[in-house]
Amino acid sequence: MDSILVRGNGPLHGQIPIAGAKNACLTLMPATLLSDEPLTLINAPRLSDIRTMTQLLRSLGAEVTSLQGGQVLALSSHDIHNKTADYDIVRKMRASILVLGPLLARYGEAVVSLPGGCAIGARPVDLHLRALEAMGATLELRDGYVHASAPGGLKGGTVDFDFASVGATENALMAATLAKGITVIRNAAREPEIVDLARCLRAMGAQIDGDGSSEITIQGVDRLGGATHTVVTDRIELGTYMLAPAICGGEVELLGGRIELLEAFCEKLDAAGITVTETEKGLSVTRGNGDIRAVNVTTEPFPGFPTDLQAQMMALLCTANGTSVLEEKIFENRFMHAPELMRMGAQIDVQGGTATVTGVPKLKGAPVMATDLRASVSLILAGLAAEGETKVARVYHLDRGYEHVVGKLSGVGANIERISDT
Ligand code: EPU
Repeated sequence: MDSILVRGNGPLHGQIPIAGAKNACLTLMPATLLSDEPLTLINAPRLSDIRTMTQLLRSLGAEVTSLQGGQVLALSSHDIHNKTADYDIVRKMRASILVLGPLLARYGEAVVSLPGGCAIGARPVDLHLRALEAMGATLELRDGYVHASAPGGLKGGTVDFDFASVGATENALMAATLAKGITVIRNAAREPEIVDLARCLRAMGAQIDGDGSSEITIQGVDRLGGATHTVVTDRIELGTYMLAPAICGGEVELLGGRIELLEAFCEKLDAAGITVTETEKGLSVTRGNGDIRAVNVTTEPFPGFPTDLQAQMMALLCTANGTSVLEEKIFENRFMHAPELMRMGAQIDVQGGTATVTGVPKLKGAPVMATDLRASVSLILAGLAAEGETKVARVYHLDRGYEHVVGKLSGVGANIERISDT
């Protein structure tokens, strides 16, 4: 198993290219199941989660070809011969549940393993299932699998979410494109990844209005065609690398970055004393000579502060001047990075969904371990500004969501390497 070794060093300078969004790509790929014509995705990130989705789609009979070193994915679902998403693949990645809506909409049947819990929370899929029921699907839970059927096809209906779930909105949106009649999704998630999915579905011939707002209206069509679509920028990778100069000092330009993807996050950086400016090619982040100011952060669905940047923001606030309070409102168990940061000298008190961080002048390098993707990168960020060496174990979490992390950070002057622990 590999580890990442980081040694604290001075300011960072240079440019970091930001990849296409993992969480957009993971919902765009299953959209292939809605059509028998080719779907081409440009600007795909090179990540293990994308390989897992490739494996899942292939197990159903889809063709997935990786071109240009993985940055282009050519997908085709003209010969789907299996409508069962097996536990062995689904258990590796919760986003596998996103094949349920498309399979059911196109074929009137689907069997998908329940994903189970994960490190950051229980994460049930009840909202996905209720949305499909509102479109006329019959669902049965048997032997750990959801058996879904809609023999005459799905019918438009009203889906009223009591929480704006990202994945459930995506499943409902994809399913509704081929349902008969009109579907209205109320309290829909508004994340940029949803807007990106809607853009792609429209290019395939879907009739969708209101994506990006909390009410999406879909007029079902008989069939969808092919499309070529460019995946939206990964706002979480963007925010993560914006924090590198914020923590270490210096000035880094994030190529492809846009403020509107991360407004709430940029406001918090500003309050902490970090300057973000728009450039021709993206965003530039500078930390002046002053201290980081403590700020309070509450995670919320978009356009609020993203839960996927909470761990990384905590790494910044560990050395802020004063006390910051971080409230995690999306996942019930997403502070597992806190005890690891404390091993590096951070002062953090976690009570339920609230973490109180009292800034210390400097963190100290230590061997640490990550239990999820965003936690692992927060430990790398913390290590970049710590005294001495930090060894982050269980790097496979990182490979799920960050491509070339060592190359991207060493490219701006960070002292970071990947080592094999054999
Ligand atoms: N929830 C339910 N029932 C459901 C669905 C969700 O109770 O049927 C709960 C979850 O347990 C959670 C909350 O609702 O507490 C939010 O879940 P949501 O469905 O919005 O999240 P998701 O679709 O499972 C996506 C991202 C996550 C990101 C969240 C929130 C993908 C593949 N994953 O997950 O990304 O944290 O939205 O923004 O799009 C990551 O990239 O590190 C990551 C975890």
